[in-house]
Amino acid sequence: MNILLLGSGGREHALAWKLAQSRLIVEAGDTLYASPGNPGIAEHAHLVTLDAANHAAVAAFCADHRIGLVVIGPEAPLVDGLADSLRAEGVAVFGPSKAAAQLEGSKGFTKDLCDRAGIPTAGYFRAASLEQAVQALADFAPPYVLKADGLAAGKGVVIAATQDEAEAALADMFGGAFGGAGAEVVIEEFMEGEEASFFALTDGATILPFGSAQDHKRVGEGDTGPNTGGMGAYSPAPVLTPALRAQAIDRIIAPTVRQMADEGMPYSGVLYAGLMLTEEGPKLVEYNCRFGDPECQVLMMRLESDLGEYMLACAENRLGAMDAPRFSPDRALTVVMAANGYPDTPEKGGTIMGVGVAEETGAKVFHAGTAMEGEHLVADGGRVLNVTARGATTAEAQARAYRAVDAIDFPTGFCRRDVGWREVAREQKRG
Ligand code: AMP
Ligand code: GLY
Repeated sequence: MNILLLGSGGREHALAWKLAQSRLIVEAGDTLYASPGNPGIAEHAHLVTLDAANHAAVAAFCADHRIGLVVIGPEAPLVDGLADSLRAEGVAVFGPSKAAAQLEGSKGFTKDLCDRAGIPTAGYFRAASLEQAVQALADFAPPYVLKADGLAAGKGVVIAATQDEAEAALADMFGGAFGGAGAEVVIEEFMEGEEASFFALTDGATILPFGSAQDHKRVGEGDTGPNTGGMGAYSPAPVLTPALRAQAIDRIIAPTVRQMADEGMPYSGVLYAGLMLTEEGPKLVEYNCRFGDPECQVLMMRLESDLGEYMLACAENRLGAMDAPRFSPDRALTVVMAANGYPDTPEKGGTIMGVGVAEETGAKVFHAGTAMEGEHLVADGGRVLNVTARGATTAEAQARAYRAVDAIDFPTGFCRRDVGWREVAREQKRG
């Protein structure tokens, strides 16, 4: 079966790497297409250039190239309803409908849904104007959690320590700092705890747990500095114990999937739950309607089952007939190498050498923001490479990942040196 993968980041490189090994592609000698892809993805897929905003053009490509499955990597085309347009043309799609993707596309939508379904999450207020928002601050205690309602590339959340800071942030949001995403703002109660990411595949009826991970959102070591899309991740996240995982499924994931189906918006695809592990149990921080980036890279590094088979079963509402997916008991850890200046103004065009040497150490280097300039690989984005390794422990995976990082010559780049610190410290304590 020919498959089309949409996206261009490290997440899509990891997906392309696994999809290219799928029985669906390999056995029939079929083709994996990717649009727009990147130089890493080009090693596994035939790159094409499609405008994901032009649904008719994507559908026409699918018809012309006998595409049996479209995998939509990023959130923007999902929130934009590309999955609906393709399904209307009879194309199988991995990824939720426009209505279901509101779980990521509108924070207010998700909070209201949680309210209707009794799902544990932070208390909240939806404000439609600056005046309303400032007034509502009185009902919350600092630190104030302020969120632009719509998609803001992971940057739409401000945690303000004081009322003054909160008011300034609200003025920014309503003033257009996040474009249309800030036309409405959600104010939330601050939750204390450790965060973990949990992934589930669902076709709207069946739910198959698909692994856990922990991300490192801050740019600096020791979790300092501004938020980013993620500077590194590891999987599994043992802090999400089997008991907590069961609670998260029973109290958060399952009621969400049920409520969405009951309200006529069945969710199909991967549901990514950002969880806060509080003293009262897991609470929902946010939903994403796609795989995490870079969490996907560590999940794919451990996945032993055929990714294509699971995505197709999901798209065809057949997950109920699938066994639980198999993951290696190994730990996987990925270090994001970013361009100097990220997350504000990443430096473009810096040369990168040594990726091959890094992979000879046994690591896998996923391309996130790279381009070819003649014969040379150069930086072409904020997050540039995801250097990923496996080990029997998180500490071992971490040591292997940094050994590979050190083999890469990327003078205009940087990385955090402490990815995995929480879990490595716990492993040391356990002895
Ligand atoms: P989000 O984009 O909703 O995941 O928010 C980004 C980050 O802000 C999260 O990963 C948390 O670290 C933090 N955050 C969001 N909501 C809350 C909350 N209600 N309480 C505490 N921290 C939060
Ligand atoms: N790494 C966080 C995200 O993908 O949203």
